[in-house]
Amino acid sequence: MRAVGLLLLCLGLAAAGEQQCSGAPALAASSNYSAVFAPSRTSGGVFDDLLTRSASNRDFSVVHGASRAWVKMPGWHNTKLSYMMQPNKGANFVMYLADMGPGSTVAGKSPITERFMLVLEGSIEIDVNDREVLVGANEYAYLPPSSEEYMSQSATAKDGAKMLVFERIFGKAEGMPIFRKGAIADAPAKESGPAGAGTSVARALLPDSDEWDLEVAVVDVRPGFPAAALRAHYNNHGAVLLAGEGLYRLGDSWFPVQAGDAVWAAPYVPQWFGAMGAEPARLVVYRDRNIDPLFVV
Ligand SMILES: *[C@@H]1O[C@H](CO)[C@@H](O)[C@H](O)[C@H]1NC(C)=O
Repeated sequence: MRAVGLLLLCLGLAAAGEQQCSGAPALAASSNYSAVFAPSRTSGGVFDDLLTRSASNRDFSVVHGASRAWVKMPGWHNTKLSYMMQPNKGANFVMYLADMGPGSTVAGKSPITERFMLVLEGSIEIDVNDREVLVGANEYAYLPPSSEEYMSQSATAKDGAKMLVFERIFGKAEGMPIFRKGAIADAPAKESGPAGAGTSVARALLPDSDEWDLEVAVVDVRPGFPAAALRAHYNNHGAVLLAGEGLYRLGDSWFPVQAGDAVWAAPYVPQWFGAMGAEPARLVVYRDRNIDPLFVV
């Protein structure tokens, strides 16, 4: 009976264009990210407008989507950026949204910086060693520091693209990662939850190997359940909620968060996320790794 039910569920999902059932976890959050790029507030002076989910603390912060600002930045043509975390706040990375207009371009980074781009809408074409690599929605690219091997890594968005970007100063004394492109759907999925019940599914977008000094994961969480156990780890932690809603614990405080909100936590800040509401939540999580903490400034 149970197998028949599962089969019917699989057929239903397949008919709805959802993920196939061949052993893949059934939990999948929406990949409609329109709320992430919802317009920020423009009016002021009314008390209602002062309500915000944003909070800024010495060692953690929440950036509410509606209270963020859009800026221009050298190197990015016809593009608006919205920063959600940066080093002079205490983080060891930069986290931002990029809204690239049609025909826009972005130059590659420097020999000491690396960039991770997750395309949420539209597509970009990256010039990697004179090879054009197309990266579409729900796909991502990791761009290593520029070198003789990676001269350009500039990107073009012919019809426009919306992206979530992480950047940092490459932090490892030895070893160098290579350019990498992938899709969320193809990333290895690890189920967890109370008694391994599959109430959350984490997809690691970068290989679990020594060269990389960061990890980025997409975590889908069933409402009513935590993304993972409460942690107070040595890494910096950045997260953006792409879909759904829930509660974040940061230090001794609790914050309601919705799609489009971003979070940062410094090392050892206790943190926990639980999904709520009707839809599964989708988080993109950044963490540094493989860096000896003795040498992190
Ligand atoms: C995505 O969600 C928004 C807001 O709920 C909705 O207006 C839009 O039609 C959705 N787009 C697609 C392609 O389903």
